[in-house]
Amino acid sequence: MPTNPIKHFLQFSDFTRDEFEYVIARASVIKQKFKNYEIYHPLVDRTLVMVFEKSSTRTRLSFEAGMHQLGGAAIYLNTRDSQLGRGEPVEDAGQVMSRMCDIIMVRTFGQEIIERFAANSRVPVINGLTNEHHPCQVLADIFTFVEHRGSISGKTVAWIGDANNMLYSWLQAAEVFGFHLNVSTPKGYDIDPAMVSTERYTFFADPSEACEGAHLVNTDVWTSMGYEKENAERLAAFDGFIVDSAKMARASKDALFMHCLPAHRGEEVSADVIDGPQSVVWDEAENRLHVQKALIEYLLLGRI
Ligand code: CP
Repeated sequence: MPTNPIKHFLQFSDFTRDEFEYVIARASVIKQKFKNYEIYHPLVDRTLVMVFEKSSTRTRLSFEAGMHQLGGAAIYLNTRDSQLGRGEPVEDAGQVMSRMCDIIMVRTFGQEIIERFAANSRVPVINGLTNEHHPCQVLADIFTFVEHRGSISGKTVAWIGDANNMLYSWLQAAEVFGFHLNVSTPKGYDIDPAMVSTERYTFFADPSEACEGAHLVNTDVWTSMGYEKENAERLAAFDGFIVDSAKMARASKDALFMHCLPAHRGEEVSADVIDGPQSVVWDEAENRLHVQKALIEYLLLGRI
């Protein structure tokens, strides 16, 4: 049963390093069970509700498959098909939904919306992405780094791209895990100082310099999928920010490349990098499944 008071995962800083290390260790165990076709059903008769206001491939599949694999059920609710899309107060939705299920994942636009929802929920709420944070993705990224290179503490991570939800979760993760971020954002897509509570980062106007010596190079789409025409002007601002082999050559010799996907080859990343030997994007995507199973297990059952 969930701990009392209810623990949510709304942004990366909601967990301590000790909690993350536990969840990552459990993700490793749970992943091995999955690979071995071992039946592991600690959540029989438990239900996850997934509320989506924004579209998704990885988040939906990883949460839905993960809950099934843990022995429970997952219900998909698109806000367009619910009363939420017609103006039902988010506070009321939090009250009602949390009486019918055991855990809730929400993908919505504003962090403020998920916080209001969670404040009215009787069960744990997980942030499946807001405009401000994407903590599950960064948790999967760190698990992937740990699998390939060991501890991320003391390492350097380069972020090349705009100041978005991924970067803000990476900045929180740097503080929690004790690593450094080299950040390079195009003019006009800068970090909002109000969103940052760590000094563990350095800003570089030149994205190539930001990659220098990095153990991990990370980027994200410049324009959201489906919004390419509307965001054509962004492409000019991002000129020179592509992560290509020249930038990867500035990174540490054994540097990894990550991208949360979906990607536009030839824009934020060259095809030879994302499809090349330093790229771990498929492991990164798969690991959404394993870390979220461990996260759900931790939020519902605590340390087992
Ligand atoms: N990375 C990620 O969150 O993917 P989806 O938008 O497909 O869920």
